[in-house]
Amino acid sequence: MSPAATNPVPIPDGRVLAGIRATSDQHIGNYLGAIQNFVDLQERFECIYSIVDLHSLTTLEETAELAANVHETALILLAAGIDPARSILYVQSHVPEISELHLLLSMVVPNGWLLRVPTFKEKAREQPDNVNYGLVGYPVLQTADIVMYKATHVPVGQDQLAHLELAREIVRRFNRHFGETFPEPRPELTEAPLVMGLDGARKMSKSLGNHISIAGDEAATAKRVRSAVTDPKRARRNDPGRPEVCNVYALHEFFDPEERPRIYEQCTSAGIGCVDCKDMLAGAINERFRELRARRDDLAAKPETVRAILADGADRARAIAGEVLREVQERMGLPPTQTSR
Ligand code: TYM
Repeated sequence: MSPAATNPVPIPDGRVLAGIRATSDQHIGNYLGAIQNFVDLQERFECIYSIVDLHSLTTLEETAELAANVHETALILLAAGIDPARSILYVQSHVPEISELHLLLSMVVPNGWLLRVPTFKEKAREQPDNVNYGLVGYPVLQTADIVMYKATHVPVGQDQLAHLELAREIVRRFNRHFGETFPEPRPELTEAPLVMGLDGARKMSKSLGNHISIAGDEAATAKRVRSAVTDPKRARRNDPGRPEVCNVYALHEFFDPEERPRIYEQCTSAGIGCVDCKDMLAGAINERFRELRARRDDLAAKPETVRAILADGADRARAIAGEVLREVQERMGLPPTQTSR
C-alpha cells in the first residue's frame, strides 16, 4: 500500500502544456503542426509552454549555440503570439523540479517500453556512436514536462503521438501504483499534423535540411521554395501536372487555400508551370509571416525584455511544479524534507 497524499494538488479542468526543442531555425512544419495551436489554445485554456533545452542535449547537436537557440526560439514563440501576460513561457532547465520528477517517473517505466519507441530506434540508427542514457529516457523526460503541471491537453504534431501514448501509459502505471495523481494527457492536433519537407518525401525537419524557416527573409524563402520537389513526372513546362502528388500544392492549402481550385485547374492544364506555382507559394508564405518577422526583429533588439519574460515564466512554473513534486515525493514514500533549524 502506498502512502496517501495529505494535500493533493487538484487536477485542473483544462491545462495545456507543450514543449519545443531549441533550434536556430524554427520551420513551417513546427508552425503549422504546433506553434499555431499554442497561440490559439490560449483562448480556451491556461497554457504553459516550455523550450526544452535538456531534450536538445540528447543529440549533442548545436550545444555551443544552445543558449542562443533557446533565445531565438523564445523570439519566434513570442512573435507568433504567445502572450506572457496570459500564458507561462519558460526554459525547461530553469525548472529543476522537472529533472527530479523525471528520475522519480523512471522508476515506474519498464525499459522495454522505451527501447520500443520508434523515435529512439531512429535516433539510435542515426547516431550509433552516441546511443546515450538520455536518449532512452527522452520520452520519460517529456512525460515529466507534461505531468509536472498535471496538464490535460498537449498540442503536438503527428510525430509526437507515440510519445504521448507512452506518457499516458506512464500516467496509468503511476496512478495504479501510487493513487490517482495525474490526468491522462490528451494530444491536440492541428489541420496540418504532418507537414512534408521540400523533398516531398519526408517530414519537414531541420535535421533533414528539407525545411522552410519561419524567420527567413523573403528572398531566402523564395529561393528555398524554388528548390522544392514537385510532380516528378512533369518533366517539361507544357506537361500537365498532378497536384495530388505534389507537396507544393499541399502547402498552398495552408497558405492560400482560396487559390487552390485555380492552381489545380492551371496545373492540370499546364496553364502554369511549377516555377510559377512555387513563386505564388513563396509570396503567400512571405505574406503570412511578414508581421511575425517584424515582431521577431523588434524583440531581438530587446534581449533583456525576453530574458525577463522567461525568468518570470520559470518562477510561475516553479510555483506549480514545487507543489506537484511534493505530492509525488509523498506518494512515493520519500521522507519529508526537514529544514536544518
Ligand atoms: P520538436 O521540437 O521536434 O517539434 C515541436 C513541435 O512541432 C511539431 N512538428 C511538426 N508538425 C507537423 N509537421 C512537421 N513536419 C513537424 N515538425 C515538428 C512537433 O510534433 C512538435 O509538436 N519531443 C518534442 C518536444 C517536447 C514536447 C514535450 C512536446 C518535449 N517535451 C512535452 C510536447 C509536450 C519535440 O521534439 O518537438
